[in-house]
Amino acid sequence: MGRVALVTGGSRGIGEAISKALKDDGYEVAATYAGNDEKAAAFTKATGIKTYKWDVSDYEACKAGIAEVEEELGPVEVLVNNAGITRDAMFHRMTPEQWREVIDTNLTGMFNMTHNVWGGMRDRKFGRVINISSVNGQKGQAGQANYSAAKAGDIGFTRALAQEGARAGITVNAICPGYIATEMVKAIDEKVLNERIIPQIPVGRLGEPEEIARTVVFLASDDAGFFSGSTLSPNGAQFFS
Ligand code: CAA
Repeated sequence: MGRVALVTGGSRGIGEAISKALKDDGYEVAATYAGNDEKAAAFTKATGIKTYKWDVSDYEACKAGIAEVEEELGPVEVLVNNAGITRDAMFHRMTPEQWREVIDTNLTGMFNMTHNVWGGMRDRKFGRVINISSVNGQKGQAGQANYSAAKAGDIGFTRALAQEGARAGITVNAICPGYIATEMVKAIDEKVLNERIIPQIPVGRLGEPEEIARTVVFLASDDAGFFSGSTLSPNGAQFFS
Protein backbone atom coordinates (compact mmCIF):
# COMPACT_ATOMS: atom_id res chain seq x y z
CA MET A 1 0.00 0.00 0.00
CA GLY A 2 1.23 3.47 -0.86
CA ARG A 3 1.44 6.44 1.47
CA VAL A 4 -1.82 8.04 2.48
CA ALA A 5 -2.46 11.44 0.90
CA LEU A 6 -5.32 13.68 1.98
CA VAL A 7 -6.46 16.36 -0.47
CA THR A 8 -8.89 19.02 0.72
CA GLY A 9 -11.36 20.16 -1.90
CA GLY A 10 -10.14 17.08 -3.70
CA SER A 11 -13.15 16.18 -5.82
CA ARG A 12 -13.39 19.28 -8.01
CA GLY A 13 -11.21 21.75 -9.90
CA ILE A 14 -7.48 21.67 -9.24
CA GLY A 15 -8.08 19.31 -6.30
CA GLU A 16 -9.66 16.69 -8.57
CA ALA A 17 -6.58 16.65 -10.80
CA ILE A 18 -4.32 16.45 -7.71
CA SER A 19 -6.25 13.51 -6.24
CA LYS A 20 -6.09 11.61 -9.52
CA ALA A 21 -2.41 12.30 -10.10
CA LEU A 22 -1.49 11.15 -6.59
CA LYS A 23 -3.53 7.99 -7.02
CA ASP A 24 -1.82 7.32 -10.37
CA ASP A 25 1.50 7.74 -8.59
CA GLY A 26 0.61 5.00 -6.08
CA TYR A 27 -0.80 6.95 -3.13
CA GLU A 28 -3.82 5.89 -1.13
CA VAL A 29 -5.88 9.04 -1.60
CA ALA A 30 -8.67 10.55 0.48
CA ALA A 31 -10.42 13.63 -0.91
CA THR A 32 -12.51 15.99 1.15
CA TYR A 33 -15.35 18.14 -0.12
CA ALA A 34 -17.60 20.69 1.50
CA GLY A 35 -20.99 20.58 -0.15
CA ASN A 36 -21.51 19.07 -3.58
CA ASP A 37 -22.60 15.48 -2.77
CA GLU A 38 -23.55 14.70 -6.34
CA LYS A 39 -20.19 15.73 -7.79
CA ALA A 40 -18.33 13.87 -5.02
CA ALA A 41 -20.30 10.65 -5.65
CA ALA A 42 -19.62 10.88 -9.39
CA PHE A 43 -15.94 11.50 -8.67
CA THR A 44 -15.69 8.41 -6.43
CA LYS A 45 -17.52 6.31 -9.00
CA ALA A 46 -15.18 7.42 -11.77
CA THR A 47 -11.90 7.24 -9.86
CA GLY A 48 -12.36 4.84 -6.94
CA ILE A 49 -11.07 7.60 -4.63
CA LYS A 50 -12.94 7.87 -1.32
CA THR A 51 -14.47 11.20 -0.45
CA TYR A 52 -15.19 12.64 3.00
CA LYS A 53 -17.47 15.57 3.69
CA TRP A 54 -16.48 18.27 6.12
CA ASP A 55 -15.93 22.00 6.31
CA VAL A 56 -12.23 22.87 6.63
CA SER A 57 -13.11 26.10 8.42
CA ASP A 58 -14.43 24.04 11.37
CA TYR A 59 -11.56 22.82 13.61
CA GLU A 60 -13.53 20.07 15.34
CA ALA A 61 -14.86 18.78 12.01
CA CYS A 62 -11.28 18.57 10.70
CA LYS A 63 -10.18 16.69 13.80
CA ALA A 64 -13.02 14.17 13.56
CA GLY A 65 -12.71 13.81 9.78
CA ILE A 66 -8.96 13.19 9.87
CA ALA A 67 -9.45 10.60 12.63
CA GLU A 68 -11.94 8.80 10.39
CA VAL A 69 -9.59 8.86 7.38
CA GLU A 70 -6.70 7.56 9.52
CA GLU A 71 -8.88 4.82 10.96
CA GLU A 72 -9.88 3.68 7.46
CA LEU A 73 -6.71 4.25 5.45
CA GLY A 74 -3.84 4.77 7.90
CA PRO A 75 -1.81 7.79 9.02
CA VAL A 76 -1.86 10.82 6.74
CA GLU A 77 1.67 11.31 5.41
CA VAL A 78 0.89 13.79 2.66
CA LEU A 79 -1.53 16.67 3.24
CA VAL A 80 -2.55 18.87 0.33
CA ASN A 81 -4.34 21.98 1.58
CA ASN A 82 -6.20 22.84 -1.58
CA ALA A 83 -9.74 23.78 -0.49
CA GLY A 84 -10.52 27.36 -1.34
CA ILE A 85 -13.35 29.71 -2.19
CA THR A 86 -13.77 33.15 -3.72
CA ARG A 87 -16.17 35.89 -2.71
CA ASP A 88 -14.95 38.57 -5.10
CA ALA A 89 -16.07 42.18 -4.69
CA MET A 90 -14.40 45.56 -4.95
CA PHE A 91 -13.37 46.49 -1.42
CA HIS A 92 -15.87 49.32 -1.05
CA ARG A 93 -18.63 46.77 -1.61
CA MET A 94 -17.10 43.83 0.27
CA THR A 95 -19.14 42.72 3.29
CA PRO A 96 -17.64 41.52 6.59
CA GLU A 97 -19.19 38.15 5.78
CA GLN A 98 -17.37 37.92 2.42
CA TRP A 99 -14.14 38.77 4.21
CA ARG A 100 -14.68 36.21 6.98
CA GLU A 101 -15.79 33.33 4.76
CA VAL A 102 -12.68 33.56 2.62
CA ILE A 103 -10.26 33.97 5.54
CA ASP A 104 -11.94 31.13 7.46
CA THR A 105 -11.74 28.68 4.56
CA ASN A 106 -8.59 29.68 2.70
CA LEU A 107 -6.35 30.55 5.65
CA THR A 108 -7.78 29.20 8.91
CA GLY A 109 -8.69 26.00 7.03
CA MET A 110 -4.97 25.37 6.55
CA PHE A 111 -4.36 25.75 10.27
CA ASN A 112 -7.28 23.46 11.12
CA MET A 113 -6.11 20.70 8.79
CA THR A 114 -2.38 20.90 9.35
CA HIS A 115 -2.66 21.17 13.13
CA ASN A 116 -4.53 17.86 13.21
CA VAL A 117 -1.89 15.89 11.23
CA TRP A 118 1.22 17.65 12.51
CA GLY A 119 1.67 15.63 15.72
CA GLY A 120 1.51 12.33 13.84
CA MET A 121 3.97 13.54 11.20
CA ARG A 122 6.37 14.66 13.94
CA ASP A 123 6.10 11.31 15.72
CA ARG A 124 6.74 9.38 12.51
CA LYS A 125 9.52 11.77 11.42
CA PHE A 126 8.04 12.16 7.96
CA GLY A 127 5.51 14.43 6.37
CA ARG A 128 4.71 16.42 3.29
CA VAL A 129 2.45 19.46 3.58
CA ILE A 130 1.64 21.15 0.28
CA ASN A 131 -0.33 24.38 0.45
CA ILE A 132 -2.16 25.69 -2.59
CA SER A 133 -1.83 29.46 -2.46
CA SER A 134 -2.28 31.66 -5.55
CA VAL A 135 -0.59 34.18 -7.81
CA ASN A 136 -3.07 36.62 -6.29
CA GLY A 137 -1.53 36.04 -2.85
CA GLN A 138 1.79 37.14 -4.37
CA LYS A 139 0.73 40.12 -6.47
CA GLY A 140 -2.67 41.09 -5.04
CA GLN A 141 -5.78 41.32 -7.24
CA ALA A 142 -8.35 44.09 -7.43
CA GLY A 143 -11.70 42.67 -6.35
CA GLN A 144 -10.00 40.12 -4.09
CA ALA A 145 -8.77 41.89 -0.94
CA ASN A 146 -10.08 38.93 1.08
CA TYR A 147 -8.65 36.20 -1.17
CA SER A 148 -5.31 37.95 -1.71
CA ALA A 149 -4.91 38.42 2.06
CA ALA A 150 -5.72 34.77 2.79
CA LYS A 151 -3.46 33.45 0.04
CA ALA A 152 -0.57 35.71 1.13
CA GLY A 153 -1.17 34.37 4.65
CA ASP A 154 -0.84 30.83 3.28
CA ILE A 155 2.67 31.67 2.11
CA GLY A 156 3.72 33.04 5.52
CA PHE A 157 2.21 29.97 7.19
CA THR A 158 4.21 27.74 4.83
CA ARG A 159 7.51 29.50 5.54
CA ALA A 160 7.08 29.41 9.31
CA LEU A 161 6.07 25.75 9.40
CA ALA A 162 8.88 24.73 7.05
CA GLN A 163 11.32 25.87 9.72
CA GLU A 164 9.46 24.05 12.49
CA GLY A 165 9.09 20.82 10.51
CA ALA A 166 12.64 20.60 9.19
CA ARG A 167 14.14 18.65 12.08
CA ALA A 168 11.18 16.27 12.11
CA GLY A 169 11.49 15.28 8.44
CA ILE A 170 8.44 17.30 7.43
CA THR A 171 8.60 19.52 4.36
CA VAL A 172 6.11 22.33 3.87
CA ASN A 173 5.82 24.05 0.51
CA ALA A 174 3.43 26.34 -1.30
CA ILE A 175 2.28 26.29 -4.89
CA CYS A 176 0.97 29.57 -6.28
CA PRO A 177 -1.04 28.69 -9.38
CA GLY A 178 -1.87 31.38 -11.86
CA TYR A 179 -5.28 31.40 -13.57
CA ILE A 180 -6.24 27.77 -14.17
CA ALA A 181 -9.14 26.50 -16.28
CA THR A 182 -11.51 25.47 -13.48
CA GLU A 183 -15.07 26.37 -12.52
CA MET A 184 -13.69 29.04 -10.17
CA VAL A 185 -11.98 30.93 -12.97
CA LYS A 186 -14.72 30.25 -15.50
CA ALA A 187 -17.14 31.92 -13.05
CA ILE A 188 -15.40 35.26 -13.68
CA ASP A 189 -17.41 37.51 -15.98
CA GLU A 190 -16.35 36.57 -19.54
CA LYS A 191 -15.57 40.15 -20.48
CA VAL A 192 -13.38 40.62 -17.39
CA LEU A 193 -11.59 37.31 -18.08
CA ASN A 194 -10.96 37.96 -21.78
CA GLU A 195 -10.24 41.67 -21.65
CA ARG A 196 -8.49 42.14 -18.31
CA ILE A 197 -7.03 38.83 -17.17
CA ILE A 198 -5.90 36.68 -20.08
CA PRO A 199 -3.99 39.60 -21.67
CA GLN A 200 -1.89 39.72 -18.47
CA ILE A 201 -0.73 36.11 -18.97
CA PRO A 202 2.27 36.09 -21.33
CA VAL A 203 1.74 32.49 -22.46
CA GLY A 204 -1.72 33.62 -23.61
CA ARG A 205 -3.78 30.86 -22.06
CA LEU A 206 -5.18 29.57 -18.79
CA GLY A 207 -3.22 26.81 -17.07
CA GLU A 208 -4.54 23.25 -16.87
CA PRO A 209 -5.32 21.60 -13.49
CA GLU A 210 -2.97 18.74 -14.42
CA GLU A 211 -0.07 21.21 -14.60
CA ILE A 212 -0.61 21.98 -10.92
CA ALA A 213 -1.16 18.31 -10.06
CA ARG A 214 2.22 17.33 -11.47
CA THR A 215 3.86 19.96 -9.26
CA VAL A 216 2.14 18.43 -6.22
CA VAL A 217 3.29 14.93 -7.14
CA PHE A 218 6.88 16.20 -7.30
CA LEU A 219 6.69 18.01 -3.93
CA ALA A 220 5.18 14.91 -2.31
CA SER A 221 7.96 12.65 -3.56
CA ASP A 222 11.12 11.54 -1.75
CA ASP A 223 13.07 13.37 -4.47
CA ALA A 224 11.73 16.70 -3.17
CA GLY A 225 13.15 16.24 0.34
CA PHE A 226 15.39 19.32 0.10
CA PHE A 227 12.51 21.58 -0.96
CA SER A 228 10.94 23.19 2.06
CA GLY A 229 9.48 26.64 2.60
CA SER A 230 9.56 27.16 -1.14
CA THR A 231 6.95 28.75 -3.36
CA LEU A 232 6.54 27.24 -6.82
CA SER A 233 4.72 29.50 -9.25
CA PRO A 234 3.17 27.80 -12.28
CA ASN A 235 1.50 30.90 -13.71
CA GLY A 236 2.39 31.24 -17.41
CA ALA A 237 4.95 34.01 -16.68
CA GLN A 238 2.24 36.28 -15.25
CA PHE A 239 4.24 37.22 -12.16
CA PHE A 240 7.71 36.59 -10.76
CA SER A 241 8.57 36.72 -7.09
N1 CAA B 1 -7.71 47.48 -11.22
C1 CAA B 1 -8.22 48.67 -10.89
N2 CAA B 1 -9.53 48.96 -10.98
C2 CAA B 1 -10.33 48.00 -11.43
C3 CAA B 1 -9.87 46.73 -11.79
C4 CAA B 1 -8.49 46.50 -11.69
N3 CAA B 1 -7.96 45.31 -12.03
N4 CAA B 1 -10.91 45.99 -12.19
C5 CAA B 1 -12.00 46.77 -12.09
N5 CAA B 1 -11.65 48.00 -11.65
C6 CAA B 1 -12.50 49.15 -11.44
C7 CAA B 1 -13.38 49.37 -12.67
O1 CAA B 1 -12.70 50.14 -13.65
C8 CAA B 1 -14.55 50.13 -12.07
O2 CAA B 1 -14.21 51.48 -11.84
P1 CAA B 1 -15.27 52.63 -12.16
O3 CAA B 1 -16.48 52.33 -11.32
O4 CAA B 1 -14.52 53.89 -11.74
O5 CAA B 1 -15.52 52.54 -13.63
C9 CAA B 1 -14.70 49.48 -10.69
O6 CAA B 1 -13.41 48.89 -10.39
C10 CAA B 1 -15.77 48.40 -10.65
O7 CAA B 1 -15.42 47.39 -11.63
P2 CAA B 1 -16.46 46.34 -12.15
O8 CAA B 1 -17.47 47.00 -13.03
O9 CAA B 1 -15.72 45.16 -12.74
O10 CAA B 1 -17.19 45.96 -10.78
P3 CAA B 1 -18.16 44.80 -10.49
O11 CAA B 1 -18.70 45.05 -9.14
O12 CAA B 1 -19.08 44.52 -11.62
O13 CAA B 1 -17.16 43.52 -10.45
C11 CAA B 1 -15.47 42.12 -9.62
C12 CAA B 1 -16.13 43.48 -9.50
C13 CAA B 1 -16.48 40.99 -9.31
C14 CAA B 1 -14.36 42.07 -8.58
C15 CAA B 1 -14.94 41.95 -11.07
O14 CAA B 1 -14.14 43.06 -11.40
C16 CAA B 1 -14.09 40.71 -11.23
O15 CAA B 1 -14.60 39.60 -11.32
N6 CAA B 1 -12.78 40.87 -11.27
C17 CAA B 1 -11.85 39.74 -11.38
C18 CAA B 1 -11.38 39.33 -10.04
C19 CAA B 1 -10.48 38.14 -10.20
O16 CAA B 1 -9.47 38.18 -10.89
N7 CAA B 1 -10.83 37.04 -9.54
C20 CAA B 1 -10.06 35.83 -9.64
C21 CAA B 1 -11.00 34.67 -9.42
S1 CAA B 1 -10.19 33.14 -9.82
C22 CAA B 1 -9.16 32.89 -8.57
O17 CAA B 1 -9.16 33.55 -7.58
C23 CAA B 1 -8.19 31.75 -8.73
C24 CAA B 1 -6.80 32.21 -8.56
O18 CAA B 1 -6.19 31.90 -7.54
C25 CAA B 1 -6.13 32.98 -9.63
